[in-house]
Amino acid sequence: MQPTVTDFFHDATGTFSYVVADAATREAAVIDAVLNYDPRTARTSTQFADRIVAHARENNLRVRWVLETHAHADHVSAGAYLRDTFGAQLAIGSGIRKVQAAFKQIFNLGEDFKPDGSQFDRLLQDGETLTIGTLPVRVLAMPGHTNDSIAYVVGNCAFIGDTLFAPDVGSARCDFPGGDARLLHASVQKLYQLPESTRLFLCHDYPPGSRLPRCEVSVAEQRLSNLHLRDGISADQFVSMRVARDRGLEAPNLILPAIQMNIRGGRKPPPEANGTSYLKLPVDTL
Ligand SMILES: [Fe+2]
Repeated sequence: MQPTVTDFFHDATGTFSYVVADAATREAAVIDAVLNYDPRTARTSTQFADRIVAHARENNLRVRWVLETHAHADHVSAGAYLRDTFGAQLAIGSGIRKVQAAFKQIFNLGEDFKPDGSQFDRLLQDGETLTIGTLPVRVLAMPGHTNDSIAYVVGNCAFIGDTLFAPDVGSARCDFPGGDARLLHASVQKLYQLPESTRLFLCHDYPPGSRLPRCEVSVAEQRLSNLHLRDGISADQFVSMRVARDRGLEAPNLILPAIQMNIRGGRKPPPEANGTSYLKLPVDTL
């Protein structure tokens, strides 16, 4: 049995969120959901995530899992919101603890922030299996872009986060704390061991020129034509290209709010005495 996959594209951040459903039982998972965040006013909204809620209701889906491929730096996650809305379990790779520890220092978070993954219901290890109804979901560790990155393999579909982008865009940066270009090359080789017809679902697309965003690329197409990671590009070649390229990249627009919320599962920091939550700006640090 193959899953039914529905994609939702969030224009402002170029992010794809997915609903993955088992037609036999109508159980489903949501992967990498986006919470709207306006950087000018620090206002969040669930407008985009509510499209996912509406889709689930219209199709009588029971969402059991809200899954993250990693702690995203370019958009705020609707993970906690959808977890609470659906009564689902929120899961991420067990590497999140290292990401939390690194950013706890950077943001000088207090004792109330525990870098132990307890903000999530489930921490996933390489090789572990979940189920969506009758469909097994295999977890593959994909360190490189971040050290908590994982892919979810369901039937002939794999949800790969930022492990690869579309062939004409290439790969994601590896210069965040815990990122490592050599590890990313090795992770991609592991992905390339999947059958050639495997449908790789991307977390982002930033289409060059007039091309429309695409969410899906086969293993065969990536191996043949990925700009940075097609077959035959050695680890050394990739690492020198990636490191040089990362030196010239600006930080993502939403990195400061996104990381502070996403290490909390997509939640705001605890409110202060006046009932308002505040995010921090570490000056001259990043
Ligand atoms: Fe990312």
